[in-house]
Amino acid sequence: MINAEIMGHGVVGSGVAEILINHSDRIAEKVKDEIFVKYILDLRDFDNLSYSDKFIKDFNLILNDDSVKIVAEVMGGVNPAYDFVKSCLLAGKSVVTSNKELVAAKGAELLKIANDKNVNFLFEASVGGGIPILRPMSQCLAANKINSVTGILNGTTNYILNKMIVDNMAFEDALKLAQEKGFAEKDPTADIEGHDACRKVCILASLAFGRHVYPNQVKTEGITSITATDVEFADGFNCVIKLIGRTEMLESGKITATVRPTLVSRDNIISAVNGVFNTVMVSGDQTGDVLFYGKGAGKEATASAVVADMIDCAKHLNARKYLFWEDGDDDYVVEANEPTRLYIYAKSENYENLLENALALFGDKASYIKNKFKGEVAILTDTELESDLLEKANKLGADAIKIMHTLF
Ligand code: HSE
Repeated sequence: MINAEIMGHGVVGSGVAEILINHSDRIAEKVKDEIFVKYILDLRDFDNLSYSDKFIKDFNLILNDDSVKIVAEVMGGVNPAYDFVKSCLLAGKSVVTSNKELVAAKGAELLKIANDKNVNFLFEASVGGGIPILRPMSQCLAANKINSVTGILNGTTNYILNKMIVDNMAFEDALKLAQEKGFAEKDPTADIEGHDACRKVCILASLAFGRHVYPNQVKTEGITSITATDVEFADGFNCVIKLIGRTEMLESGKITATVRPTLVSRDNIISAVNGVFNTVMVSGDQTGDVLFYGKGAGKEATASAVVADMIDCAKHLNARKYLFWEDGDDDYVVEANEPTRLYIYAKSENYENLLENALALFGDKASYIKNKFKGEVAILTDTELESDLLEKANKLGADAIKIMHTLF
C-alpha cells in the first residue's frame, strides 16, 4: 500500500479524491499496488462525505508522516502552495500538482529540488486540463527539436469568444454565462486578461526549450477589448477570433512567447476548437505538426490528469521520471519582428481620407471591409515585416485603431 495525501478539496481536489477512492480497484490494478488516501488537507469542514474522516487542517501532520510518499497539491495560487510543495519535496515525498501559477513561477526551482532528492515533481494537469500534453511532449516527441508550440490554452475565454461568434452575444453576457456554468476561475480576471494562458505558455515553453520562462516575459493581452464588430469583421475575412498562446524558437537561440487575441483562418484546424475545449499544436523538426485536443478545464478532466501523475509517481517511487529545465534569464525571451499578416481596424470621422490612406499604404494585395456609415474600415494585410505594417498603421490617420495578429 502506498500512502498519498491531497492538499485542497476544491473543484479539482474533490475530483481527485473521488477517483482515488471510488476507483481504487482500477488504480490498484494499474499500479500493482494500492494508492491509499491517508489525509486530505483543507481548512474547511466537510462533514457529510463518505471519506470525511480523512480531513486534517495541520500541514505538519503530512510533512512529518514518513509513510506518505505521494502528495497531490490542488490548492491553487503560489502561497502557501509553494512552501508546502517545497517542504514535501525536501522531505523526500513525490509531489504532483495542477497549479499552473506555481509551476510558472517556481518550476525550475522545484524541479531542481526534486532532482536533488530523487523524487518526482509532475504537473500534467497544469496545462490543458485533461489533455495529455506535457508527458507526450517530453517523452514521445523527445527525438525532435521543437520549433514552436501554439494553442488555445484557456477554456473560459474560448467559451466566451465562441458565444460571441456563434450566438452574437456581447462580451459581458458571455462572461456571465461562463461564470454561471462554473468554467471561469474564482476571479475571472486571470482568464479574461490572459494570465491563466500566460502561465500555461510559460510551462510549455520551459519544457519545450529547456529553460524557465517567467510570466513577466510573456507578452500577454486578454480578450476584454474584443467587440462584436471585431467578430463580424473577422468573419468577413473567413476567420474567427481566438485567444492564442504561442512560443517559438528563433534562429538566434532566443525564443518568443505571447498570449493574444488572434484572427485564426477557418482553414486552420485550430479555428474549429470551440467551447471549453483546448488544443495544443507542437511543431517538431521530425514529426511536423502534432495536434492535441480535449477538455481544458473542469473537475473530472483535470482530476484525471492529476491522478495519472500520482499513478506515475507510484510506479516510479524508486526510479525518478526525468523532467527538468534550467533556470531562465532576462534576455532569453524576445519580441520577434517577422513577416506576418495583421488585422487592422480603423475608424475616422474623415472616412474618405482614411480609406484613401489605407489603399495607398496597404495596396490591392490587402483585403478590405468597409463601413462608410460608421466610418470604419477593417484591413487584412498582405504578408510584410511586422514593424513595416505597424509603421503604416500609424500613418492611417485614424481616430481609433485596433491591431490583431493572425494565424493562417
Ligand atoms: N480557468 C481555466 C480555463 C481552468 O478556463 O481554462 C483550467 O486551467
